[in-house]
Amino acid sequence: MKKIIIANWKMNPKTSKEAAILARAASEAARVAKNIEVVIAPPFVHLQAVRGVKLGAQNIFWEKSGPYTGEISPLQLKAYGVRHVLLGHSERRTLGETNEEINKKVKAVLENGMKAILCVGETEKKKDVVFPQEIATELKEGLKNIKKNFLKNLIVVYEPVWAISTNKNAKADNPKNVFEMTILIRKELLKMFGKKVAFLTPILYGGSVDKKNAVDFVKLGKVDGLLVGSASLNPKKFVKIIKNVSKI
Ligand code: PGA
Repeated sequence: MKKIIIANWKMNPKTSKEAAILARAASEAARVAKNIEVVIAPPFVHLQAVRGVKLGAQNIFWEKSGPYTGEISPLQLKAYGVRHVLLGHSERRTLGETNEEINKKVKAVLENGMKAILCVGETEKKKDVVFPQEIATELKEGLKNIKKNFLKNLIVVYEPVWAISTNKNAKADNPKNVFEMTILIRKELLKMFGKKVAFLTPILYGGSVDKKNAVDFVKLGKVDGLLVGSASLNPKKFVKIIKNVSKI
């Protein structure tokens, strides 16, 4: 399976010109790194500036069309060439998005044949907790009543909130812990959907990924890819991440 590297640009950059420069660097690196699937999730206003890599979205609405001011539908994103959608990112959860809404979005994405990238992760690091209840709940409620045959398009990201670079005192997780978390997430998926989904769902890591730690997360943390925020806004750093991981 190809490793997946997803850039989450969040609410950056300011202009389409800057977006195109960032995207060009990533797409050149992606062209060379044939064993990596590079996805860029720009803000909606920059979707058009991104070429030469897989196009992702940072959000979606669950209805097909109609009176929903300010929302964007799965059909619109699909028509635009979007094939991956980030869902349940902690920054959206902080803005009030609930597991119930995330579940509707996951369904809408999967039913429209796109890849749902479901982010899960605990808010605080607690030493004595092996598998945070928050993650179990996010998986259970986020994936509630989803038909099993759609789950081939599910990607899960383990992204502890305390590790996201823009959060206070953030620090990347360590590969050993990430590896353990991927096993526990697979166990949860096993309980919910059985062996095939548990084994085949790609699990990525996100949280302060940079050019120095990216390889270790993939090699020692044994994840299927990475979700990169801040470092994806620096073309040199992001290209280095792609190149380094492609050499594993
Ligand atoms: P970060 O962000 O790489 O800047 O920590 C990751 C994310 O929030 O998706």
